[in-house]
Amino acid sequence: MIGVFDSGHGGLTILRSLVTALPERSFVYLGDHAHTPYGGRTSAEIVDLTRNAIEMLFDIECDLVVLACNTAAAVALRTLQQEWLPVEYEDRRILGVLVPTVEAVTGVPWLIDPAHVPAETPKTIAVFATRRTVDSNAYPEEVNKRASGIDLIQMACEGLVDLIEQHAPRDALRQAVHGYVAQLMTRLNGKRLDAVLLGCTHYPLVADLFAEALPAGVEILSQPDLVARSLADYLVRHEDLDAADFRGGTLKLLTTGDPVHVSKFATDFFGRPIQFEAAGSRSRSRSVAGQVA
Ligand code: DGL
Repeated sequence: MIGVFDSGHGGLTILRSLVTALPERSFVYLGDHAHTPYGGRTSAEIVDLTRNAIEMLFDIECDLVVLACNTAAAVALRTLQQEWLPVEYEDRRILGVLVPTVEAVTGVPWLIDPAHVPAETPKTIAVFATRRTVDSNAYPEEVNKRASGIDLIQMACEGLVDLIEQHAPRDALRQAVHGYVAQLMTRLNGKRLDAVLLGCTHYPLVADLFAEALPAGVEILSQPDLVARSLADYLVRHEDLDAADFRGGTLKLLTTGDPVHVSKFATDFFGRPIQFEAAGSRSRSRSVAGQVA
């Protein structure tokens, strides 16, 4: 099975695109709803929580895990891939959402030699993300290595994940999103905006509100679709990893939070009955002190 992880509801936006693009694959989704949001936590907490969650997915035989969380990918993925995986789980793989997103934004493959990036037209792209993703500076750094002509403006949307996780009324969500967009427009001070990236997997859940608030004609890049395309491509390029148990079209959904609450949200989002189960004990027993569900 292919594991898909997010701090809460947000990764469902990625999961839905993965299931649509790869219907014959088997997926296990884990939402760490007991500890959401990650966006205001310290780096050490995010690394710990992300490692615990991935380990839980490894325990149930997910050889490949997709981190469907920008915050975890920006803050924890490199450390886990370089310092933890080779020592503890040499044969397992973790993929993030940052690599395919940066490739799509720049049009430049991740592994290209930065000294030989193609010529480009200057443009302005805004990234809306959590506070921790913004502070990590991962998007501007990786984009500008490959496309120095892109002016990447980051906007932290503090509180938006909480509102989405708490199923806040639509008016409250609208007011919040219009506020973040208004702040961005003030910072742009009349400069033309070419595109927007919703750099938190929760934000596509309110993509219509971003579209409503942004000036007409600004493209909103769809991270779920580009991550799905990237995983499909990865599986073709890594036939050796494409294990038999990745196949079968099954879907299992786990949460460290309340399965009834999460199932209701996911059922509305998928438009069909979706049943979450309580996750096993590992993420609870090894969770950050004081935050145990
Ligand atoms: N959905 C996640 C992301 O893409 C994390 C949000 C959070 O837990 O703050 O960043």
